[in-house]
Amino acid sequence: MTKGAAGAAGAGKKTVLITGASRGLGRALAVEMARRGHAVVGCARSHDALHSLHADLHPSPSSPSPSPSPHLLTTADVRSDGSVRELAKLVAESRRVPDIIVNNAGAINKNNKIWLVPAEEFDMVVDTNIKGTTNILRHFLPLMIEKKQGIVVNISSGWGRSAAAEVAPYCATKWAIEGLTRSVAKELPPGVAIIALSPGVVNTDMLASCFGSSAALYQTPEAWAPKAATMILNLTTEDNGASLTV
Ligand SMILES: NC(=O)c1ccc[n+]([C@@H]2O[C@H](COP(=O)([O-])OP(=O)(O)OC[C@H]3O[C@@H](n4cnc5c(N)ncnc54)[C@H](OP(=O)(O)O)[C@@H]3O)[C@@H](O)[C@H]2O)c1
Repeated sequence: MTKGAAGAAGAGKKTVLITGASRGLGRALAVEMARRGHAVVGCARSHDALHSLHADLHPSPSSPSPSPSPHLLTTADVRSDGSVRELAKLVAESRRVPDIIVNNAGAINKNNKIWLVPAEEFDMVVDTNIKGTTNILRHFLPLMIEKKQGIVVNISSGWGRSAAAEVAPYCATKWAIEGLTRSVAKELPPGVAIIALSPGVVNTDMLASCFGSSAALYQTPEAWAPKAATMILNLTTEDNGASLTV
């Protein structure tokens, strides 16, 4: 699905690419960025959830929505290099090279000791969290480097800096995100930066998967998004290689 492929953000407004925009943190961040007047490029696998997000990205009826839409929402599977290549092509053709990329799409294993995690499930977590992030870097960093400008935020985790039983596959991938980020930071030219950002603990489907019913004790994505948006919008190239927390 492709929605609103034309239009440009106004002066001072950013174009923000958010992967995994269909629910959880990615969705709430997309809504918050749009509310602040920034153009959102969002992707996920769920067509229906993106369709519902599109309605929420538009201003209230009291403020007429610009035509055409400044936002671009499209299905993409970050695990697939080809799918991400198509996304980058679409973005470049519609002249929406992002000022900011938030590599947010992620997956976690069902709580289990490592020897009980099926190989396919381990692969799914690695493919989504490590290869998915890297697929985005492969196809989007050249666009940012050409523009000589851009900030990439790789969503990490407290579990990318600490350890926990039964989520070893997930922890391994988030430690990888920290290492990937710091290494790529050393490769980037002036004007382009990459940052690892731990979002804190937020009540989403992913948190419910590992915390069970106690996930409900934590902040909602809607309460988290304004803090995250402010932090992300204030990042500069001086933050290149940093590991930060919302
Ligand atoms: N919630 C927390 O407390 C917490 C803490 C630390 C870190 N994080 C990190 O924050 C990020 C967002 O987590 P969340 O809690 O919002 O998780 P979530 O509610 O499970 O949402 C995950 C998002 O990623 C998308 N996604 C998954 N696989 C994808 C794929 N192959 N291609 C494209 N999109 C894909 C999902 O969309 P589709 O299913 O439609 O594709 C969904 O939009 C993740 O990187 C996670 O590791 C979260």
